[in-house]
Amino acid sequence: MKRIRRALPEEASRRGRSPDAWLTDNWLVERLGMKRFLNSQLYHRVPRRVNPLDFLGIGSLFVFINQVITGIILATWYSPSVPAAYDDMKKIAHQIPLGWLVQNLHYWGANLMVVLVFFHMLRVFYIGAYRKPRELTWIAGVLLLGITILFAFTGYLLPWDQQAYWASMVGTWMPFYAPVVGTFIVHLIRGGDYITSVTLSRFYAIHVLVLPALFLMVFGLHFYMVLAKQLTMVEEARDLPKRQRGLVTFFPTTVFQMMMFLVIIGCLLLYISMNVNAPLLAIADPLNKAHYNPVPIWFFFSIYQLLKYIPPVLDPLGIIGLPLIAGVVLLALPFIDRIPRRTPSQRKTYTVPAAVVVAAVFALTYLGAVNQGIPGGSSQVVANPTYSKDILPILQADCAQCHSQAVYKSMGTPMLLSYQGINTPYKGQKLIVPGDPAKSILYLRITGQQQPQMPLGGAPLPKNTIATIANWIKQGAKQ
Ligand code: HEC
Repeated sequence: MKRIRRALPEEASRRGRSPDAWLTDNWLVERLGMKRFLNSQLYHRVPRRVNPLDFLGIGSLFVFINQVITGIILATWYSPSVPAAYDDMKKIAHQIPLGWLVQNLHYWGANLMVVLVFFHMLRVFYIGAYRKPRELTWIAGVLLLGITILFAFTGYLLPWDQQAYWASMVGTWMPFYAPVVGTFIVHLIRGGDYITSVTLSRFYAIHVLVLPALFLMVFGLHFYMVLAKQLTMVEEARDLPKRQRGLVTFFPTTVFQMMMFLVIIGCLLLYISMNVNAPLLAIADPLNKAHYNPVPIWFFFSIYQLLKYIPPVLDPLGIIGLPLIAGVVLLALPFIDRIPRRTPSQRKTYTVPAAVVVAAVFALTYLGAVNQGIPGGSSQVVANPTYSKDILPILQADCAQCHSQAVYKSMGTPMLLSYQGINTPYKGQKLIVPGDPAKSILYLRITGQQQPQMPLGGAPLPKNTIATIANWIKQGAKQ
């Protein structure tokens, strides 16, 4: 570990005693044998003015602790079974003293944590603090971002309302686009074809057992590395001439600034939680009789918004490819970026493309939030639809994986991607009866009146899309 750094002489004389005197006299510090360690951690020199963005990491930790405490309280009142889960959410919100506040703190804390961890990563990237010798700190950090997202994703299903159910339907469908193993992974995550109480138990176990254990291990490494390799700002302060003005010791000045930052974060979280309730819609309905429009979790908005701009054949690239590439690039970054300079303007090869990607993600997330939902979700109801102009694009986007010519040959599913195919009886039955949606199997299947609902295992088609298909059949199913 690092050589011990003594306090600044100025600091010591101002206080009239050595700043580490309290460490020497301290009963606990002596028992723990941590005098040298604390001395080196607390009394290294740092710039007096610290950018508040440098506290995003400790801010994330602070919110994580909030998640642990509120999570434990919620777990004592919640049982992960159907339909008890939903009733418990109501009970916690309405009957248990301050239950609503705990619920809101957990809900908003989860969202805040995703944001904080993301911006923490951006900040570390921006100042180039991931480079040698901090590669492991960075890698652990990237893993922590992944774990944080998984926390939010698994937690989302637990309230078991319509929003939870259908967002999870959309989210757990994503691995389907992975080649070869896609269907297997979807089944593994869901514990079957659909989201059921099995999925709920699975998500709960992952949320409260697997992820916390993983998080603590990876975070342990992350935090240890931060202490062992010290912060970049400490390193930079060390390089400055000894008696440079504007340097202070980490404790108490920086620690105080840090506490102020945490107080602000805490107040923000408390303010939101006291004023905005975590949403709880109607209880989850697997048949979706209310035609709830499935909306993915907000941090997937960018992906689903992107899907609206690319042809359906590229969907696997958007859903699996890009996130995978992003993950690999992030993990490899400290080994790729070998420019010895750290200032952003001297690392334009990396900072400029990163800025473009981040701007794109922000823009897509914003657009996704405005036109909520999965592709086709915001499309207007078409009054006079034709097969080739209006219906085929829907089928291509949502049904092609299982109803294309190739799959039709191997699986025997009806072939929907040609006008002739859709008019060919399937197992002796007509898929569409022009003029009468209620007699058209296609219509009965997409509305769930006949099971299993189509698209099989995926989120149901949005209301407007179903209305367009209904119009099309009513008006004689024109080509
Ligand atoms: C994940 C694969 C998958 C997706 C996606 C999918 N289907 Fe199917 N579909 C199947 C399978 C398998 C069958 C045959 C088994 C059956 O009848 O349930 C089928 C059968 C059908 C049938 C015939 C039912 C009958 O009783 O004759 C219709 C109509 C249909 N699908 C419509 C759609 C539509 C419309 C979409 C898109 C909105 C869609 N499917 C998406 C897998 C899928």
